[in-house]
Amino acid sequence: MTADLQSVIEKLVSGGDITREEIILLLENRNEEIKTYLAQKASAVARKYYGNKVFVRGLIEFTNYCKNDCYYCGIRCSNKNASRYRLTREEILECASHGYDLGFRTIVLQGGEDAYFKDDLIADIVKSIKSEHPDCAVTLSIGEKSFESYKKFFDAGADRYLLRHETADAEHYAKLHPSNLSSENRKQCLFNLKKIGFQTGAGFMVGSPYQTTGNIADDLLFLKKLDPEMIGIGPFIPHKETPFADMTAGTLELTLFLLSIIRLMLPTVLLPATTALGTIDPRGRELGILAGANVVMPNLSPVSVRKKYDLYDNKICTGEEAAECMNCLKRRIESIGYEIVTDRGDNVRYVKEH
Ligand code: 5AD
Ligand code: FES
Repeated sequence: MTADLQSVIEKLVSGGDITREEIILLLENRNEEIKTYLAQKASAVARKYYGNKVFVRGLIEFTNYCKNDCYYCGIRCSNKNASRYRLTREEILECASHGYDLGFRTIVLQGGEDAYFKDDLIADIVKSIKSEHPDCAVTLSIGEKSFESYKKFFDAGADRYLLRHETADAEHYAKLHPSNLSSENRKQCLFNLKKIGFQTGAGFMVGSPYQTTGNIADDLLFLKKLDPEMIGIGPFIPHKETPFADMTAGTLELTLFLLSIIRLMLPTVLLPATTALGTIDPRGRELGILAGANVVMPNLSPVSVRKKYDLYDNKICTGEEAAECMNCLKRRIESIGYEIVTDRGDNVRYVKEH
């Protein structure tokens, strides 16, 4: 190993800031030894702040209508073969209560950008969940909205918001999205969310089409600058009815390495081992935890609509009831010496500050 590479690794492990060039050096020269070392250090950092606890989030995918046309996504508006659904307000509240009974203390409402769900309706749903289950955190993941809309959701009681930045590079962004969407607006949304007071989540797909090592370095530096409470990364997986049907999927190997780097760069961040990671490898989520992740997000949506929230091919857990996924995950997490906890699971930084 060169002295340069060695010093980058030591800097990362000791919590120092690494530069774009250093990240690229690390990515281009990674080997088994480095990956194992960083995974050990990263999982030790996660254990320092969160013990051997893994937080669960109950995900309700409440609509797959979407006005956007992102080239990678199976529910893009141009996919005429997508079978569209939206849950009613009552169905959403029922799912949330079922999740509560199963032990979930964070409910994530995720959906496409669906004009049917006007701000007031979203605010009303958030308010209802919060008043029925005051000890639950509510997370929204419903895309790009105005500052005023975000503020409305926050005032209604929403605690957190997930909006992956997808890629920090404007040119790369333009290769993944039609021209009405911009990386600039995406980032502005994230800064607005933070300003309003949301615990905010950003992130990107690993191995998305046209992604370069330089892009990944920029993504990591953007995350460091934004300093979000949560970061979602998972491998890109092609969907057969999108323009990227024939593109290559992201790898387990690179995703795990990036999870370790992210944990070391942002020590207290809440970092899920995503469903996409579990989809490209049967033990993907367990390996994600061992690489430094500390969150899993099983699905709470009714089984009747599960298959329809079809962002990418072969998504796991589309036939299982929420209780089955909860038990399955419990077993998986315990098999690697961790435990699932019933807790809101806030970022420790947030817990200290509030
Ligand atoms: N493969 C992997 N992840 C995807 N997402 C959307 N489409 C795909 C795909 N084909 C991710 C995006 C989005 C999140 C909800 O799902 O990063 O932000
Ligand atoms: Fe859903 Fe294992 S987590 S079946």
